[in-house]
Amino acid sequence: MGFSSDFLWGGATAANQYEGGVFEGGAGLSTADVMTNGAHKVPRQVTFRMPDGSWDKLPLCFGSPVKHLPEGAVACTVDDPDIYYPTHIASDFYHHYKEDIRLCAEEGFKCLRLSIKWSRIFPNGDDEEPNEAGLAFYEDVFKTCREYGIEPLVTLEHYENPLSLANRFNGWDSRYLVDIFVKYATTCFARFDGLVKYYLTFNEINCIEVAPYVTAGLIHADPQNIANAAYHQFLASAKTVIAAHEQWPELKIGMMLAYGPMYAMTCDPDDQLLVMKADNDGLFFADVQMLGEYPAYKLIQYKNEGITLPVQEGDLETLKAGTCDFLSFSLYGSHTVTVHKEGLKKGEGNGAFDFVVANPYLKTNAWGWATDPNCQRITLNTLYHRYRCPLWCVESGIGWNDEFVDGTVHDDYRIDYMRANIKSMRDAVELDGIPLMGYLYWGCVDMVSNGEGEMKKRYGQIYVDANDYGQGSFKRSLKDSYFWYQKVIASNGEDLD
Ligand code: BG6
Repeated sequence: MGFSSDFLWGGATAANQYEGGVFEGGAGLSTADVMTNGAHKVPRQVTFRMPDGSWDKLPLCFGSPVKHLPEGAVACTVDDPDIYYPTHIASDFYHHYKEDIRLCAEEGFKCLRLSIKWSRIFPNGDDEEPNEAGLAFYEDVFKTCREYGIEPLVTLEHYENPLSLANRFNGWDSRYLVDIFVKYATTCFARFDGLVKYYLTFNEINCIEVAPYVTAGLIHADPQNIANAAYHQFLASAKTVIAAHEQWPELKIGMMLAYGPMYAMTCDPDDQLLVMKADNDGLFFADVQMLGEYPAYKLIQYKNEGITLPVQEGDLETLKAGTCDFLSFSLYGSHTVTVHKEGLKKGEGNGAFDFVVANPYLKTNAWGWATDPNCQRITLNTLYHRYRCPLWCVESGIGWNDEFVDGTVHDDYRIDYMRANIKSMRDAVELDGIPLMGYLYWGCVDMVSNGEGEMKKRYGQIYVDANDYGQGSFKRSLKDSYFWYQKVIASNGEDLD
């Protein structure tokens, strides 16, 4: 027994890293559009203006200890030759979508994950009427997918919020966003009815703790603001699920979690406890979105930290009634934790929290992201036995500074990464009987990295001729991994040679 015959093979993208066309079709700016480029160990910065007209920048990015813009600051773009905003052009999907979707179809994709830029539909987030040009753009994108037999999976919010909401309301800190998000979501459900069946509400919702600006548009993020924002996103997701079930019963709405199995570095029981706590920190988000209530361990933690939840009458019933239809996750590797950090190399890459150390058994790429050949099987078992719900891996991939030679890239390192991941996933299905809906490779077409804002950290099977500053022909070329994945999909995951 291998993968099911309707297994959703494909790839995943996000508007803020892929779409470009930021100033076209009447779109409004998003929080991602005021983030500069960075590099490995050079943080991305958010540019802003002060009431006196002066401007500055601060690293409100992933993992940064900076969590506030100065009082009175307004996040915005600035015109300065030293400032570059990578989202503005990105991979120029805005002008290449027909070609990209065709190439993905020829690769054999059954599914393509895309996100909608909320501020392309509602430029300020809460406009009375939606922007017709934005709706028409996505409608044509989804129609093109359908013409090629590709099922779109659509993320409603992937690491960008309408900038206006961040500046006016401190983003998801405010309950005001709940109902305007539901309006945005249902506007999409109505307009894309019959074209899109699968939606995700919030990408990597648990990253709000380490990236409150990126994930929830917070320009001021104390622990209380973060708890409020998570609460409001839960509520918005639940209300969206309820609205979908009532009005568009054929829709399936998923949650999306950033996951990586936690390993104890030693057999010290304190390390096991650390694993348990670190796992709960992430899974708390799935507990709420899949089980419909805040777990006791989180409520006690909030109480001990003096955090109160902005609960209003009826909210708890809404959370219970609006649980998601499936649990999707991103998975790049595992995390190794220990209380005995002295003398050990710190872990790098995705989810490199303070207590994470490098795993000596794993190889890493140039950005410190490790390839773990067992992470899919372990993850699928953990998630399934806790939630007993349909699972979908909607992100997995490896970034590399590819060498483009003679019109292609010989990316055997990417093939090795994918082979290990797909094999591990197949073991979970075949040996452990875990139901899995699909596998989407992250960044199937080269795009700007989220963490660094660089183009050179490429994930794609399709190469895009553009450098870190948006210069190039944007011509698409096929890498070796394209043809390898094409074979894997054609054999429904049997042929991994
Ligand atoms: C995931 C995000 O965490 O990791 C994506 O959902 C991101 O948006 C991906 O691109 C890879 O991270 P990075 O920083 O290498 O682009």
